[in-house]
Amino acid sequence: MIRKLTLTAVTAMSLALGAGAAQAAGGGEGGYGHIEDVAFSFEGPFGKYDQMQLQRGLKVYTEVCAACHGLRYVPLRTLADPGGPGYTEDEVRAYAAEHFYVYDEELEDDREALPSDHFPAVSGDGMGPDLSLMAKARAGFHGPYGTGINQLLRGIGGAEYIANFLLGFTGEEDEVAGQYLYENMAFSTGWVQMAPQLEDDLIEYDDGTPATAEQMAHDVAAFLMWTAEPKMMARKQAGILGVSLLLLLTVLLYLTNKKLWYPIKHGGKQANL
Ligand code: HEC
Repeated sequence: MIRKLTLTAVTAMSLALGAGAAQAAGGGEGGYGHIEDVAFSFEGPFGKYDQMQLQRGLKVYTEVCAACHGLRYVPLRTLADPGGPGYTEDEVRAYAAEHFYVYDEELEDDREALPSDHFPAVSGDGMGPDLSLMAKARAGFHGPYGTGINQLLRGIGGAEYIANFLLGFTGEEDEVAGQYLYENMAFSTGWVQMAPQLEDDLIEYDDGTPATAEQMAHDVAAFLMWTAEPKMMARKQAGILGVSLLLLLTVLLYLTNKKLWYPIKHGGKQANL
């Protein structure tokens, strides 16, 4: 009886896993929504943001995405925070003034942005959603069967989703009720209102990295992961410290236990407490 049950369970498990793998490989409906894993520097328990990558990602955002997407929850001053793109306060002041205007209620007019302002919100016709938290709002990995078990191994995949989305355009477009739609293999329904944005050498990086479309997609995805979770590194450090302390406690408790039971296990010999 027990053998039969075990066999059934094992068979069911392997079927489910096999189907899950097949589904993960094939992607979602009609082949859309398939996300390739990207090896980002910030993954894993010891992962860290790559400061130069965040700087390049900020450049892609500023020169390409900011035309249609705001980052309204991100204060400009955080560009100088430890663990981030690592600019000095003066560099942030210059960057803010150079790129953004905000409406000042006291002046009742627009003025150059200050580090104390947030990145502007962007709204209007043809504009896209705010990207501040996008890397946490989207998941790259869902399977098997939408249970999300893959996320235990590969992470939620928000940054992967953004990178795949930016590179997922097939070049096909369609007009539906006066609205242009572009085919994108990473987008769940396959057709999206955003036109393809990235092509090789669209911008020039300050650090000399060749600006291929793939490089820009990965850099801006990493930058958007940072805007969505700027304290990721501090959180991981706290986690590692916590686990180390628990391990130490485990060892101490084990030794204490051995010592306390020693006289009983060794039949009346003098305890050595
Ligand atoms: C010309 C305007 C425009 C530019 C430039 C632009 N986008 Fe978009 N983006 C849009 C619009 C419009 C949508 C909404 C599309 C929809 O929901 O069909 C969108 C949607 C998105 C989405 C959400 C997809 C989803 O899952 O809902 C992401 C992520 C995104 N854009 C990232 C970027 C990044 C990163 C850049 C810079 C490399 C960029 N966009 C540049 C207009 C733009």
